[in-house]
Amino acid sequence: MSLLDFLKTATKPLTSDVRSILVVNSKGGSGKTTVATNLASYYAVHGADVVLADFDPQASSLAWLSVRPEDRPRIRGLAAWKDPLRIPRQADTVIMDAPAGVDERQVARLARLAQTILIPVLPSPLDIRAAAEFIEHVLRVRRTSGLATKVAVLANRVRDITCIADTLDDFLRGIDLPFVATLRDSQHYIVAAERGLGLFELAPAAMTPDIEQWEPLMKWLQSKRSIPKAA
Ligand SMILES: Nc1ncnc2c1ncn2[C@@H]1O[C@H](COP(=O)(O)OP(=O)(O)OP(=O)(O)O)[C@@H](O)[C@H]1O
Ligand SMILES: [Mg+2]
Repeated sequence: MSLLDFLKTATKPLTSDVRSILVVNSKGGSGKTTVATNLASYYAVHGADVVLADFDPQASSLAWLSVRPEDRPRIRGLAAWKDPLRIPRQADTVIMDAPAGVDERQVARLARLAQTILIPVLPSPLDIRAAAEFIEHVLRVRRTSGLATKVAVLANRVRDITCIADTLDDFLRGIDLPFVATLRDSQHYIVAAERGLGLFELAPAAMTPDIEQWEPLMKWLQSKRSIPKAA
């Protein structure tokens, strides 16, 4: 193997110099893959060397990646549900897409890998109730494992902002977690996903209302508030 080939295949452990974000919620269909793929696209478009680690055997994130046009900023996929999490040496950002139905033990395993956990929640009362239980698991895991992982919640597929605002506000008041975004239900996510793209890569004018909704989330992710202090 030449030195160049070696460097290309060399891997490194997941350390604090890699920005690592886990998107997780045990509830199916809450938007984990949508948020993970759009985050991967956002970071790649902004020049990061991104790994998209798919922990879901359904492999939806990898399916998205498989239709991604070659002329777009590269994102590397990892079949993390079966392969060890080997981070290429040059990579600086790892986005992890979790499967539905994770139990507390699986959350503990995944939470160890990430600086930041994002929990997308759908606005229905049932989803909010399930999310409340799941968030309790996450916070318990964080406490018992002594992790400094930062956790935030976002609302996804919101149709009626006023209605969800009340319900979510009530729910979030009791728990001390940042509520970092409200993403509306929009066909743009579906159009982008079909093409292996993120919202940020579609023609800007039509995307503006959706992209604006990502601003508080990206601002939080780029702030120190979302990254544990180095030990
Ligand atoms: N904001 C949105 N607007 C419109 N459609 C959305 C939005 N978010 C997600 N969807 C759609 O909802 C469906 C479920 O979303 P997604 O696959 O991201 O959820 P998931 O949590 O990854 O699901 P699973 O638990 O099965 O992995 C998909 O068809 C996706 O395109
Ligand atoms: Mg998914």
